Amino acid sequence: MEANRLNRTVKAAILASLTGLIFAAGCRQDMHNQPKMIPQRGSEMFADHRGARPQVLNTVARGQLHQDSYFYTGVVEGANGYREERDLMPFPVTMEVLKRGQERFNVYCTPCHSRVGNGLGEIVERGYKPAANFHDQVRRAQPVSHYFYVMTHGYGAMPDYSAQLTPVDRWAVAAYVRALQLSQSATLQDVPSGVQVKSLKEVATEENLPASDAEPWALPAATNASAYTNDVKQGNPAMAPARPADPKISIPASKPAPAAAK
Ligand code: HEC
Repeated sequence: MEANRLNRTVKAAILASLTGLIFAAGCRQDMHNQPKMIPQRGSEMFADHRGARPQVLNTVARGQLHQDSYFYTGVVEGANGYREERDLMPFPVTMEVLKRGQERFNVYCTPCHSRVGNGLGEIVERGYKPAANFHDQVRRAQPVSHYFYVMTHGYGAMPDYSAQLTPVDRWAVAAYVRALQLSQSATLQDVPSGVQVKSLKEVATEENLPASDAEPWALPAATNASAYTNDVKQGNPAMAPARPADPKISIPASKPAPAAAK
């Protein structure tokens, strides 16, 4: 009996202190008013009162340590301190790389450079500045990293493609441009020794194709936008008429220029 009462008193005491604890915790707002930075809000903690802190100098975000600078820029520092392009792929070119390059090239480059890379894409046909013909002497002589550089930074009237193509894709496209160039300029020396080469005529006969398929076909001359005609009969859609000249803007006689300070 005595023990039972004691037990009850202990229980009541525990309950009371627990309830007290709950009330005490309820009154504290620490969990609601945590000291923390809220985006775009100021802070009393720093001398400049900015909540958003600048990145600590010389820190590198995870995944952004671009140590292999040739892979990311396409240039190396030359002996004279200038940036130099190189005729070197930063990774081995496999069939898979070329296929990827072909696919990306056909998506992003053909609108202007065309599928064969002669610079006669649809957009050029409709009046855009003629895009480069990858088969001309100048372009063929350029090192492979030049293509990477042009895709990364743009070139003249050409926009850059760094947002659309990751570095590895830009290299794949550059490799594919080389393949396109080879497709139009390969010589017997490019064939590995021991491999038999057939003439196109032989191939055409074997495949039962008309002999004319084996005749050389010339690349169309580089586009000349001014030579474009509005000839609907030739299949050229009529272009929008030339914009009328801007009406003369008459500039009202202005106040005399303020006299130069004496
Ligand atoms: C919107 C049209 C357009 C697209 C798309 C385009 N280009 Fe070009 N490209 C041009 C034009 C125009 C020029 C010539 C620039 C000039 O002379 O101002 C050019 C020039 C170039 C050159 C020659 C640079 C030099 O040194 O002469 C290369 C290489 C090139 N483009 C590669 C590419 C590749 C690779 C792609 C696809 C990722 C691509 N371009 C997509 C319009 C385009």
